[in-house]
Amino acid sequence: MTESFVRSVERRAGSPLRLRQRAVGGVGAVVWDAALVLAKYLERAWPWPGGGSADGGGGGGAGPVAVELGAGTGLVGLMAAALGANVTVTDLEELQDLLNVNINDNKHLVTGSIQAKVLKWGETVTDLPSDPDYILVADCIYYEQSLEPLLRTIKDLSGNKTCIILSYEERTMGNNPKVEKRFFFELLQTDFEIEEIPLDKQDEEYRSEDIHVLHIRRKSRR
Ligand SMILES: C[S@@+](CC[C@H](N)C(=O)[O-])C[C@H]1O[C@@H](n2cnc3c(N)ncnc32)[C@H](O)[C@@H]1O
Repeated sequence: MTESFVRSVERRAGSPLRLRQRAVGGVGAVVWDAALVLAKYLERAWPWPGGGSADGGGGGGAGPVAVELGAGTGLVGLMAAALGANVTVTDLEELQDLLNVNINDNKHLVTGSIQAKVLKWGETVTDLPSDPDYILVADCIYYEQSLEPLLRTIKDLSGNKTCIILSYEERTMGNNPKVEKRFFFELLQTDFEIEEIPLDKQDEEYRSEDIHVLHIRRKSRR
């Protein structure tokens, strides 16, 4: 296998998650800061508000159902599955090997369930849970051509009860400000409501002024 280096992520209870990262393999092969912030927010906020039923979704005491988009190394999905969610982590074909290695390395910590699937944004969604309680997204708003396909996937997957929990790092370089503005203020706001999670509701250590955590829900149909 390609050479890898391990990122250890502490948890409030139990042993840390260990994520293999790769020096080659594109942007998805390392853990991004927005993923750390989101994973630690999910841990602090468990059981998560705002999706599914009062027990956190899923019903009958079972954990909520979550789909992660652009999962990269799988940190966010693995934290969710360790907390008790039933998670499908998705990314491009070339990330599946790394995702499956990380799922296997951390399977003893999973109290819900986790599986990896290929999903390219904008393509037809076939074998994923429809209307999941949560869609998780970390650091996926970074290039212009992906914005409309990503929004299409979010629309295809989400139902009225779905809460999208998304983190992104606000970047000032290049056309990043333009890309972020277009996604949040032109595309997303047409059909979705956005709630920003304040810093004092995030993890005490893993939070930053530059990294935003949002709860996003479909605008209710009149
Ligand atoms: C900046 S990385 C973030 C990875 C991970 N969420 C994290 O924060 O550590 C962006 C991720 O989006 C994935 N991605 C980019 N374009 C995509 C597309 N068109 N369809 C599906 N995934 C895509 C990449 O493969 C990569 O894993």
